[in-house]
Amino acid sequence: MKTKRLKKMISVMIAGTAAICLAACGSQTGDGSTVSDQAKENADSQNPADADAGQEENTEDGAERAAGESGALVVYFSWSGNTEDVAQEIQNQTGADLFEIVPAEPYTDDYNELLDVAQEEQSSDARPAIADRVDLSGYDTVFLGFPNWWGDMPMILYTFLDEYDLSGKTVAPFNTSGGSGFSGSLATIAEMEPDADVTEGLSLGSSEAAGCAETVSGWLSSIGLAE
Ligand SMILES: Cc1cc2nc3c(=O)[nH]c(=O)nc-3n(C[C@H](O)[C@H](O)[C@H](O)COP(=O)(O)O)c2cc1C
Repeated sequence: MKTKRLKKMISVMIAGTAAICLAACGSQTGDGSTVSDQAKENADSQNPADADAGQEENTEDGAERAAGESGALVVYFSWSGNTEDVAQEIQNQTGADLFEIVPAEPYTDDYNELLDVAQEEQSSDARPAIADRVDLSGYDTVFLGFPNWWGDMPMILYTFLDEYDLSGKTVAPFNTSGGSGFSGSLATIAEMEPDADVTEGLSLGSSEAAGCAETVSGWLSSIGLAE
């Protein structure tokens, strides 16, 4: 965690620069409890248009799918801690469980190297392996969080969406970015999980991730997932 905090500081400082550089390059230019022990035990048995801070859509059926009633899980990937801050705030406000997507092969700690690695993963349509598995069968709602990497989700999110079937579940996406928001990733999630109910997403800038309680609360209310 200490390393993550350090990385986060670095990330906040350079995110703006990254966004500018990436835009100039023509890119599309983004414990409490962890997942339950039971879920972990069962894990092996499970088979595997840009929008910023969107806060609309379907509040009518919100009561029917309130997170606390049906079981909610926050799934997130975070390299430098910003998205993790938002994930933890969602957990605080909903009582959801938490599952961090951890790469089987850790990413470099060096930001500049990571830029190259991430770009290479994207251009080769890679599916980086995830270290652990999670049993989603007990969850009706999955909050899905990630940073914007090169105008898209990190490729490890593609791994997750390939490996897990979210059909019939409510998927609430959130991300952090240096300014690009979701880029096209909301549409991608909907395409990859056609039988999931994908809500409006919550997108925050890197520097907005810490102290995001009010924003998260407003978003949860607007999509009908507030406690
Ligand atoms: C490899 C890489 C690529 C990035 N690409 C973009 C981008 O295209 N657009 C953008 O706005 N921010 C971009 N960023 C900045 C991150 O989205 C931003 O710092 C985010 O808050 C990091 O989240 P995290 O702390 O959860 O890892 C990139 C950062 C990295 C490391």
